[in-house]
Amino acid sequence: MELKGKHIILGITGSIAAYKSAMLARLLIKEGAEVQIVITPAGKEFITPVTLSALTGKPVVSEFFTANDGTWHSHVDLGLWTDLMIIAPATASTIGKMANGIADNMLITTYLSMKAPVMVAPAMDLDMFAHPSTIRNLEILRSYGNIIIEPAEGELASHLTGKGRMEEPEKIVAQAKDFFRQHQSLANKKILITAGPTYEKLDPVRFIGNYSSGKMGFALAEECAARGAEVILVAGPVSLKTSHPNIKRIDVESAEEMYNAAVKSFPNTDAAILCAAVADYRPTVQAQEKLKRKSETMILELTANKDIAAELGKIKNKNQRLIGFALETHDETANALKKIENKNLDFIILNSLNDKGAGFKYDTNKISILAQSGHRIDFPLKSKKEVAADIINSTLLI
Ligand code: CTP
Repeated sequence: MELKGKHIILGITGSIAAYKSAMLARLLIKEGAEVQIVITPAGKEFITPVTLSALTGKPVVSEFFTANDGTWHSHVDLGLWTDLMIIAPATASTIGKMANGIADNMLITTYLSMKAPVMVAPAMDLDMFAHPSTIRNLEILRSYGNIIIEPAEGELASHLTGKGRMEEPEKIVAQAKDFFRQHQSLANKKILITAGPTYEKLDPVRFIGNYSSGKMGFALAEECAARGAEVILVAGPVSLKTSHPNIKRIDVESAEEMYNAAVKSFPNTDAAILCAAVADYRPTVQAQEKLKRKSETMILELTANKDIAAELGKIKNKNQRLIGFALETHDETANALKKIENKNLDFIILNSLNDKGAGFKYDTNKISILAQSGHRIDFPLKSKKEVAADIINSTLLI
């Protein structure tokens, strides 16, 4: 009963594989899930709603209104009720509509209103599956964060053999269980994350800043929240958005503001991941009026900012984990180990500017994780989302 209490929407579309959806619904219910079927008009040509509602004990939703009593089915309410949406089988047409927001049936409107993660199990003929439009649409769905359950190879309804057969219901249920296992891995945890650059004001129109985009810290915040954690994200000036309702975002500008927000939030958390590229210095004087060009040279006096990581390292208790980042250009390992010691970190995530595709501007990163114990793991170049998962698995879940 691993899915006990989980609310699952099973979306069914017009493919011959729809007959397997009845088995899928039954298996999900056997694992304890509550299943609501949403079916497209074409889906009903392949499997009758009577079979499905008999299995789930709930009326099947297909139209925006119930014809006999005019009840409106709220796709928005369904979006809020759901812990996981599984669309199986998903035809090429439905995948195309999902990718492009063509909301001409109840299933697509429900998908567009969905707050929960979505799994998509394609089912189609091998040539349709291999068509560039299908490949592109699936790529778009992946970029939305949807999980694609790859179709299997085998004999298809057309009697041709190839890739396109919907994955077997048992395997889809196994993926759903895996998903919830991973999804809940940070349930009841509270995590503080700092992200982005800081701007240190020189005068009303100028600042000293750095190239940090905030992407790594935001990817960590989304991944922690997706796994059930409550996240406090202290963000420097970045143009990124957060989408998960479990992320409480505090926008700051300077290192001092970031310090105050982080030190205040830290005592109630289980861990802090300090991803921000905090300015080490700020201008000693912040001019109230715009500085005027006066001479050929100008000397700017700077004052050291407080070190957030070092302060949290001082106040942390034995149950709290503290994870820092180090972006180095030379003597990487030695410098990173020194930071672990100086700031009393449990782990440091090392990325080197010498690695192609790693660092500030990219959507990818290549990291090594060094523990206080001296243990080290090196990872290959990956997307920042995958890197976030590696960091969580290797620092918060061990
Ligand atoms: N950090 C911080 N507060 C600061 C400076 C750094 O919290 N005022 C954190 C960063 O978020 C990062 C780690 O400390 O997790 C390492 O930052 P870095 O600037 O490389 O550390 P420094 O000790 O300033 O090292 P360096 O001599 O390379 O500047």
